[in-house]
Amino acid sequence: MKYNFDKFIDRTHTSSVKFDLRQTVFGRSDVIPMWVADMDFETPDFIRDAVIQRAGHPVYGYTFRDIAYYQPIIQWMRSHHDWTIHRDDIIFCPGVVPAINFAVLAFTKPGDKIIVQTPVYRPFLGAVKDHNRNLLINQLVPNESTYLIDFDLLEEQAKDAEMLILCNPQNPIGRCWTRAELEKIAHICLKHHVLVLSDEIHADLVMPGHRHQVFANLSPETAGITLTAHAPSKTFNLAGLSTSSMIISNPELRSAFSKWIEKMHLGMGNLFGNVASAAAYAHGEPWRLQLIDYLNSNIDFTETFIKEHIPGLHMFRPEATYMIWLDFRKFNIDEEALKNKLVHEAGLGFNPGTEFGPGGEGFMRMNIACTRMTLVDALGRLRG
Ligand SMILES: Cc1ncc(COP(=O)(O)O)c(C=O)c1O
Repeated sequence: MKYNFDKFIDRTHTSSVKFDLRQTVFGRSDVIPMWVADMDFETPDFIRDAVIQRAGHPVYGYTFRDIAYYQPIIQWMRSHHDWTIHRDDIIFCPGVVPAINFAVLAFTKPGDKIIVQTPVYRPFLGAVKDHNRNLLINQLVPNESTYLIDFDLLEEQAKDAEMLILCNPQNPIGRCWTRAELEKIAHICLKHHVLVLSDEIHADLVMPGHRHQVFANLSPETAGITLTAHAPSKTFNLAGLSTSSMIISNPELRSAFSKWIEKMHLGMGNLFGNVASAAAYAHGEPWRLQLIDYLNSNIDFTETFIKEHIPGLHMFRPEATYMIWLDFRKFNIDEEALKNKLVHEAGLGFNPGTEFGPGGEGFMRMNIACTRMTLVDALGRLRG
């Protein structure tokens, strides 16, 4: 094993949101931080080396992205996702959340209806409401072991919606949508002329036994109605570098989106983000494979522990992402009281389920991208 994911890194006093904002968010600075979606692991050495090498040059002036930036993305999409894209399809964005907001502004107008499937990463809801668009909630439906899509409702909603913001794979419930499920979504959206924004930031964090399907890659017709948001930030732990792509193969959609980025002068980006992204996609596979093993064994460990030691608590085993969606509903306790218990009695900092919109009541999201030692400590505290 080349990389050591057991190594604990002290991130305090680095202006880390996850560690240094604990006092602000949880009211105490000693909770185990298992909330914000970044990892406690070192950003891999080949990325740090590339950044350090560039940082060694004494001028950090304006830079552009050349083929050395684009080629690794194109190659990665081909080798990992069997998806052929071209340099012109890739539009730099300073983050996936900004990209979602630009897309809402570029393709819809106030009052337009946008479908979002909750529970979901909270900024999806903000991207609709903050720009005075109408939110149509297509709530995901849990059963004993997984979540399913309410396709009948989706079809009804699609009849007068402009856009669907899809989370593929899904955060926080961890579904890696199957090809069949995505085909059904595509069928509905094509039929009713709904534009799809597919956020695929977690596409490279899929657990063994599952396979990510790029939504746009289902068919040429689907590609024609899709904007795909992608980034190296979750997979390689470089969220602080604000570097992502919107990938659009339909030239009309691409040109409309690009105009937005140009008008707002947001295309310059971050010199170090460019360097890090190129290094990640060019050299990242061995690290990613080892990371997936580690995350998956953390998921196994959590599942076994909860089954053996915490009766009444149910976890939805993630098929992708490093988030675990914990179901506390059997304890029949309101969210504020649960949060207080977790923070003040157990010393645990999770995300409350209602942050993710309707369907989050009674749940907590736990980030297990931490060392096994941290996880053992956290689960012990959760058991109480
Ligand atoms: C589904 C999803 N999209 C986007 C983001 C954040 O993207 P960015 O930091 O590039 O804005 C996250 C982070 O948790 C996420 O889970």
